[in-house]
Amino acid sequence: MTLEKISERAIRKHLDTREIGRRIVYRPAVSSTMDVALSEIEQGAAHGTVVVAGTQKKGKGRLRRNWISPPGGVYLSIILYPPPTMLTSLTMVACLAVLDCIQDIGSLRANIKWPNDVLIGGKKVAGVLAQSGKTQDGRIYAVVGIGINANSDVSGQPEIADSATSLIQTAGKEVSLLALICGLLANFEKYFSQLSRGEPVWQQWRDSLVTLGQQVHVKSGHATYSGVAESVDSSGDLLLRLADGTLREIPAGDVTLRT
Ligand code: BTN
Repeated sequence: MTLEKISERAIRKHLDTREIGRRIVYRPAVSSTMDVALSEIEQGAAHGTVVVAGTQKKGKGRLRRNWISPPGGVYLSIILYPPPTMLTSLTMVACLAVLDCIQDIGSLRANIKWPNDVLIGGKKVAGVLAQSGKTQDGRIYAVVGIGINANSDVSGQPEIADSATSLIQTAGKEVSLLALICGLLANFEKYFSQLSRGEPVWQQWRDSLVTLGQQVHVKSGHATYSGVAESVDSSGDLLLRLADGTLREIPAGDVTLRT
């Protein structure tokens, strides 16, 4: 694997955005870009600041999982101060941005497993982790973390070898990390602006979900529900049709296909 030189300067030079990435913080290695972003927020980081890392020692996934982060992947966290009404749509914005940049860079068709796993050929290639809170002076912040398995071959990693893939494995060639990062941020800005103008993104996100119409098991908290994933609502909740005919609204969870 040839490791492209990524730096704040290189990203800025290639980036064509107005607010997302107006400040780039690049670190070759971090514990997690989420932690760096939170400490940047404590120090007053501006809206649109992006923390990018070459590798993460303790990458965080959803549901307290680890995100394996060897060199060759994209690991970044975007700092935002959005209106509270936009919070539930930020993971949709991120998923759509990932789909577009993957399509742009490698002509690869990806789709989304509810709520925010990006898949190619049924295997996970990227994930989104969003968290939000309030600053000491009461401003609402959000950190949107995005990880893409790009130039790392995940088949050598036993924990994820069966369920995950990477762009290099699916495209059969290396992709430019710089182009991927800049494309991702540009597409994020596109969907974030759409949302800021009051135009929802959830229908586009819904239309990219592979989960709908499938018989699934959904683990949510301590409960597991089984049924048909019928639809999603505008805040991203899954509407699951249970065997007794009732419709259950599930705000967050982990889906597996029923076999
Ligand atoms: C998931 O699918 O479980 C979410 C994975 C999110 C991983 C990204 S990599 C950049 C950012 N920093 C982290 O520690 N996690 C997110």
